[in-house]
Amino acid sequence: MTDQNANVMAKLKTATADLHTEAENRPMQRALAKGTLPREQYVAYLGQLFLLHRTLEEVTDAATSSHRAFATVVRDYQRRTPELRADLAEHGVDAEAVTPQPATEAAMNEVRRRAGEDPVSILGLTYVLEGSNNGSKYIARNLMKSYQLTPGKPGLSYFDPYGDEQMPRWLAFKADMDAVGFDEAEQETIIDAAKAMFRMIADISDEVDQPVATA
Ligand code: HEM
Repeated sequence: MTDQNANVMAKLKTATADLHTEAENRPMQRALAKGTLPREQYVAYLGQLFLLHRTLEEVTDAATSSHRAFATVVRDYQRRTPELRADLAEHGVDAEAVTPQPATEAAMNEVRRRAGEDPVSILGLTYVLEGSNNGSKYIARNLMKSYQLTPGKPGLSYFDPYGDEQMPRWLAFKADMDAVGFDEAEQETIIDAAKAMFRMIADISDEVDQPVATA
């Protein structure tokens, strides 16, 4: 493995920095971070994220033997559907009954398409969601005040899934990704998938920001 092959995480961070700024500046994300997002939109967002994470888990499970990287990087604790189910239930929503909005439907199809084309892209998609836990932990503190919930407990577990393990698990993810030694072409596929995931979440955020339809 050359030095070039060992720094996919540094490349991912640099290549997606602008998209991170764009995503975190979407009105809905800003309101979320400030703790001013109405609770019903917070719950709607959790529902859409549930569908996205469930799709990612499905393609990940189907791809585990396709590349040695999956054994190195993927861990059971990276699954977010358990927290999302519990949070939704706490807010009176059955996760299984949630239906995708158009941006989520498009994102689910995009995840399946990329995974089918090249399973290694799944790790770029995972990077964005796993990395987002870094900022979410801070967001959870504001949500806690607004919604009177406890980070890590049902209702607000998705935004702080790891508690004190956040930093060790993020460092482990980074070390494991770098240890795989992805070649140039694989790195490009992973970075391209990560960029797509940032855009998908930004689009999902915009849609959740729309006024809630009334019957
Ligand atoms: C208002 C919303 C957000 C805030 C305040 C925020 C804040 C942060 C912070 C403070 C970090 C840690 C930076 C560091 O230690 O270098 C971080 C990392 C990260 N965030 Fe966000 N974030 C937000 C939204 C998002 C969204 C919506 C996504 C995904 C679409 C996301 C994905 C990531 C990723 C992938 C990383 C890891 C970057 C790396 O080190 O490679 N963030 N964020």
